[in-house]
Amino acid sequence: MTERTSGTAQLPTAEDTVALGARLGAQLRAGDVVVLSGPLGAGKTVLAKGIAQAMDVEGPVISPTFVLARVHRARKPGAPAMIHVDLYRLLDQPSVDLLAELDSLDLDTDLEDAVVVVEWGEGVAERLSDSHLDVRLERGCQGETRTAVWEWSAP
Ligand SMILES: Nc1ncnc2c1ncn2[C@@H]1O[C@H](COP(=O)(O)OP(=O)(O)OP(=O)(O)O)[C@@H](O)[C@H]1O
Ligand SMILES: [Mg+2]
Repeated sequence: MTERTSGTAQLPTAEDTVALGARLGAQLRAGDVVVLSGPLGAGKTVLAKGIAQAMDVEGPVISPTFVLARVHRARKPGAPAMIHVDLYRLLDQPSVDLLAELDSLDLDTDLEDAVVVVEWGEGVAERLSDSHLDVRLERGCQGETRTAVWEWSAP
C-alpha cells in the first residue's frame, strides 16, 4: 500500500489527469469515499476514469449525470467495485440523504465493500465514510492545464 499523503499537481493534459486518478486509485480500499469537486468540465469524470483503471473495474466510466449512480464491478473476484455518483442534479438539495438515495437505487453492492466516487459531493459525500479522499480540480482561464489538490482523511 502506498502513502496516502495529501498533495497537489499540475495536469497539462487529460492523460495526466487520468494518470493522477490511477495513482490515487491504487491507494483506495473498500469503504473509502472519494469526493471530486471543481467546476463544470474541470476533469472530475476524467479523474474517475483513472481511478477505475487502477481499481481494474469494468467500464466504461461515463458521466452518470442522468442516473444518480453507476456500479462498476471489479474484474477480479473479491476486489471492491467502484460506485460512481454524480450529485449535480441534487445541488439545490444540500440536505439530501445520500445514503438513503443510494439505498433506494438497489445497487446490489454494499457500500462498505465498494469505493464510492462522488462528483459534486462536497458537504454530502463526506458523511458516508470517515475514510475519504477529497480531490479539488481547478481550470485556469485558458489552456488545458488543470490543478489538482487532494487530501486524505482517515479515522
Ligand atoms: N488537463 C486536463 N485534465 C482533465 N480534462 C481535460 C484536461 N484538458 C482537457 N480536458 C478535457 O476537459 C473535459 C473534462 O470533462 P469531465 O467530464 O471530466 O469534467 P467534469 O469535471 O466531470 O464535468 P461535469 O461537472 O460536467 O461532470 C474533457 O473533455 C477532457 O478531455
Ligand atoms: Mg463529470
